[in-house]
Amino acid sequence: MKSTKTTDSKKTISKPDKPDVLPRDGGLQSPWLNGSPVPLNSANVTTETYDALIVGAGITGITAALLLQKAGRKCLVVEARTVGFGTTGGTSAHINTFADTTYAEAESAFGEEGAQLFKDAINEGKSIIEENIKTYRIDCDFEPKKGYVFAENDDEVKQLDELYEGTKKVNVNIRYTEDVPTPLTYKKAVVLEGQAQFHPVKYITALAEEFIKAKGVVLENTRIETLEHIEEIHLARVGTLVIRARKVIYATHIPPGLTSLNFRCAPYRSYVLGVKLKGDNYPDALVYDMQEPYHYYRTHNIDGQQLLIAGGNDHKTGHDDPEKAFDDLEKYIRKHYQVSSVKYRWSSQYYIPADGFPYIGQMPDASDGVFCATGFNGNGMMLGSISGKILSDLVLNNSSKYETIFSPSRLKPVAGFSEFVKENADVAYHFVADRLSIKDTGSLKRIAPGSGKVVEVDGKKVAAYRDDEGNFHTLNPVCTHAKCIVNWNPEEKSWDCPCHGARYDINGRVLTGPAIVDLQHIELTSPTE
Ligand code: FES
Repeated sequence: MKSTKTTDSKKTISKPDKPDVLPRDGGLQSPWLNGSPVPLNSANVTTETYDALIVGAGITGITAALLLQKAGRKCLVVEARTVGFGTTGGTSAHINTFADTTYAEAESAFGEEGAQLFKDAINEGKSIIEENIKTYRIDCDFEPKKGYVFAENDDEVKQLDELYEGTKKVNVNIRYTEDVPTPLTYKKAVVLEGQAQFHPVKYITALAEEFIKAKGVVLENTRIETLEHIEEIHLARVGTLVIRARKVIYATHIPPGLTSLNFRCAPYRSYVLGVKLKGDNYPDALVYDMQEPYHYYRTHNIDGQQLLIAGGNDHKTGHDDPEKAFDDLEKYIRKHYQVSSVKYRWSSQYYIPADGFPYIGQMPDASDGVFCATGFNGNGMMLGSISGKILSDLVLNNSSKYETIFSPSRLKPVAGFSEFVKENADVAYHFVADRLSIKDTGSLKRIAPGSGKVVEVDGKKVAAYRDDEGNFHTLNPVCTHAKCIVNWNPEEKSWDCPCHGARYDINGRVLTGPAIVDLQHIELTSPTE
């Protein structure tokens, strides 16, 4: 344990000291968190009541914290690991004026006004990033780019035309083009002006430093365990540490614990490669195909080296095969580009909302003054930034122009209903079927070093990982969130839950919510049987 002195010297509060070894929420390295985590522990926590406790130091939490602190509020950011450890450290870092939920889809689910507001939110999210970069003179590889989307067959052409019409209708700059910087043959394409790319961790680290300069407090390696509401004050606890706050913002992607949002957000993994090409056929743009699952690519100079950043092959977390997803992505890139070497490969998690819009605002099933932001689909940079603004507006003024449209308690429009039912049927299936199926009744000996598997030992299911030295790390495979059975992710060396996306490292520690509690260790009497 390490002690943390209070500033009023009345009390000493202690918190568990749990240094992390992983720079991000997976075993693979992303170029944004290359090497060790960015050390940012800023100051001591006081026993006074904070105006706002922000849980999570990704783009949403840091944006909200800085806005609130600059507005004169006293804020504390508490991060379970380190700044940018989660999806901000694993994003492909696109800044767009369009989104995975197209404006045509937005209009069909939420009407013309809803589509317009969604466009405003996306644009405002983008402007927040650009303004912050200007105001704080942040060196984060920001570069304006054009964005191209191309269709390769008649079905895709139809979807592209819908995308074009819906986008035009909300006054986003889009036009047809025959000049896409891609080696692929396409039938029809559009270009959108005013897109951009950046280095997300350089960006949020600079924002966090501004927050600290403004006397905000950042506390890393601290996972909030419980939250209660007593006499208008929220009390957050971790070990013996008690934090008092008037408002709480969960900027943890999906909020922790079992909430109705678990049934309205489906967790997905997305795969990214950083590829060195032979020659210089790097696109000076953001390029997207329309395949299912789709692919995208762009160029980024990382440590003086030009790389093609290519992503896609997304699938639901804990489902499908991550190795195959990477293989398919690499095959796709090698088919169309002359690859010299693959420098980076990493994956990251995002949440698809049931009705296409994010959930930002007062958290359902929580006390008044507890806020959350989730369901960003693949558009976390803009939606995370606008979430920071919406949540800070809700804390400061009790209102935001987006509070109704993005309310986490909104009634779901009919358009999202089938997706909602499908996702929940899927969760129910895993809850039952994974329990009945026996993945392997054979001995642990068949698990190769560096890999893991759920096996049955002495009639008990065990999540077993064998490290490179041959030692077993054995865990109870029952997810601590809502008791589904976790699956081994051989690429990120993690245990991933197929139900709501919780993820754990090889020692059972939570990597990704909504789980709060680590997987339980199991001692085997004869671990090599
Ligand atoms: Fe909900 Fe595992 S994440 S049961």
